[in-house]
Amino acid sequence: MRQFRFLFFCLLLTSSSLALPAQEVVWSEVQTGVWKAVVGRPESYDLLKAAGATPNKAALTKVGQANFPFSKNDIEFKVVEGKTYLRFPLQKGEQLYGFGLNFQTVHQRGKILELHVDHYGGKDNGRTHAPTPFYVSSNGYGVFVNSARYIKVWAGSGVRKDSPNFPEPKDRNTDKSWASRPYSDAVEMLVPAEGVEVYVFGGPKPLDAVRRYNLMNGGGCLPPRWGLGFTQRVMTRSTAQDVENEVNLFEEKGYPLDFVGLEPGWQSKAYPGTFSWDKGRFPEPSAFVKSMLNRGIRLNLWINPYVSPDAPFYKEIRPLTSSHTVWLGAVPDFNMPKARELFFGQLQKDQVDIGVSGYKIDEVDGYDHYLWPDVASFPSGISAEQMRQTYAMLAMRYSADLFKKRNQRTFGLVRAANGGASSFPYVIYNDYYNHEDFITALVNSGFAGVLWTPEVRASKTGEEWLRRFQSNVFSPMAMINAWASGTKPWTYPEVEKQVKEYALLRMKMMPYWYSEFAKYHFEGTPPFRAMNLEDGFNLEVKKEVLTNVNLEENPYAEAKSKEIKDQYMAGEYLLVAPMFTGQTSRKVVLPKGKWYDFYTGKLAGDGEVITVTPGLDRIPVFVKDGGIIPMMPPALRAPKANQKVDIEVRYYGAKPGSYRLYDDDGETFDFEKGEFTWRDIKVELKKNGQIKGSISAPAMGKPNTIGKVIFTKMTS
Ligand code: GAL
Repeated sequence: MRQFRFLFFCLLLTSSSLALPAQEVVWSEVQTGVWKAVVGRPESYDLLKAAGATPNKAALTKVGQANFPFSKNDIEFKVVEGKTYLRFPLQKGEQLYGFGLNFQTVHQRGKILELHVDHYGGKDNGRTHAPTPFYVSSNGYGVFVNSARYIKVWAGSGVRKDSPNFPEPKDRNTDKSWASRPYSDAVEMLVPAEGVEVYVFGGPKPLDAVRRYNLMNGGGCLPPRWGLGFTQRVMTRSTAQDVENEVNLFEEKGYPLDFVGLEPGWQSKAYPGTFSWDKGRFPEPSAFVKSMLNRGIRLNLWINPYVSPDAPFYKEIRPLTSSHTVWLGAVPDFNMPKARELFFGQLQKDQVDIGVSGYKIDEVDGYDHYLWPDVASFPSGISAEQMRQTYAMLAMRYSADLFKKRNQRTFGLVRAANGGASSFPYVIYNDYYNHEDFITALVNSGFAGVLWTPEVRASKTGEEWLRRFQSNVFSPMAMINAWASGTKPWTYPEVEKQVKEYALLRMKMMPYWYSEFAKYHFEGTPPFRAMNLEDGFNLEVKKEVLTNVNLEENPYAEAKSKEIKDQYMAGEYLLVAPMFTGQTSRKVVLPKGKWYDFYTGKLAGDGEVITVTPGLDRIPVFVKDGGIIPMMPPALRAPKANQKVDIEVRYYGAKPGSYRLYDDDGETFDFEKGEFTWRDIKVELKKNGQIKGSISAPAMGKPNTIGKVIFTKMTS
């Protein structure tokens, strides 16, 4: 009998078709302020395994201790019929951000989503390029579900009978306050697997949770300096000669250019690809790449990972590919070492070894009609669903390795990512091309642990061209993608002058961008992020707060009523508020404190909602009081490795200012071995209205690319 009972007990534990009672969850603090719980039996393959990143322990410790953000009793996990149920509590007035790279909304409370890697289809429903299963709360914590499955999310929409916050039922016949979506006090998720690892990131601020998430994933990527310059993607069937002519034009006309993107036509066949140069268009690839490098121009090559039967390694890789094809190309199983060796080996010997500097990895997101179906199988045994959720991650990881091996940094493009991707040197883009939504994606990218570029392709008018270009300059990758249009920065003569001014401004701001990316890497702070992560921007979210507010007394009330999705923070000190076609004025929500006009240094407002009418020439940008923006002289190329540049330190407002300027060789991974310096800049306003500025001495024996330093007082 005892034996029988034991058997029954074992059966209960192992059978997936039975409901296990809500599990007693053990949370262990795996890093400072980061807790992990294991529910049921997690799968052996998950997002973090696909990403393969190493947490930055020291940096996580520096973020500091945190309290576990909620009562553990309010969390419920259980495994039922082979699926894992997760429930986390929500407080009144709490807002949620994240759940991946959304394009139209920042506030996620109340949403129902299915997190699924896909090309964005115009709705924030979970199907997007980076559906990172990570959410951040306005109450200052984050939650990450480490599963490579399609996860369903009810982000505060279900109401349980036994909820301690059960709302008062109302009669719709008579009560006008009846709500079709009554108050919900939980985030619930369903993971189609028998278990999962869950991580909780402590605050106290929402930004701390984001930083911990990024640092757990190795910290954000640090691009080479040239990656932060300007890039032009040429028409798809350009020849070596066309590229040379285009580079000549950039030089003649005085537009900056650091890297050129070659689109599908560099390959002898594309969709599926041969991963070999087209010898008609590029008769001497090696000489061509070298001649470009000699002119300070890097090359980035478009690929999608689907292998044409005409690829030189097709026969060998075929057994190591999926049962199903993409455009009749074989889909390499990047979880098989041999498949990686064949695929990335080809890239290495044919392209990287002759000096190619990076890749654009296309079509690793969706659509369903393009990619393998969920019934496909892969030789490694990883399911089609898990491969869909992680394919881009594997492509990024192993292509980045090609450069890492050479001690050479890269900075490329990719059309998908997922949780764990923070450290990959890739920027997401897509074909959706809606300027407003592109900005919202930039706002949300910081919550998804990814970078995003609002790329410029073509425009109906000069106005649209300039407006898009201006935003693009304040983004992780300043790029024209002219693969189909053949546009150049000067294509719209009526705004040519302004476009050039902004392209050069991008270059002048290089020391700022570079330092801000270093903070992404070393401290986990996203260089481009939502206003909601900014101090003094604690907007209440509950509708109730709005009733009877007096706008005179509380300028934030207006902002409280809606999410702010058309302005964002760029680095430590800048607030960017893009203008869209047809707009002549716009509102800008300035967080608490004084803010100054980036261009003139004039006071713009003090913790208030302002209306600006900047004219076509300007994208509104504001600097926090005491803000410091280090600039270099305008240049057509990013500084070379270890090249010295002079710095102009621009200082805004009246508060004592400080800035940490990052410096290293700009191209290698030697910074990982300590070959870098932070230079402390300080500026203060003296009684006589003059400023006093200082910069700390360079560290002995470390890279030092900083020449003469001058200080400019921007606010008079
Ligand atoms: C698209 C991609 C574009 C361009 C094009 C080339 O899928 O999003 O940026 O690369 O392919 O065929």
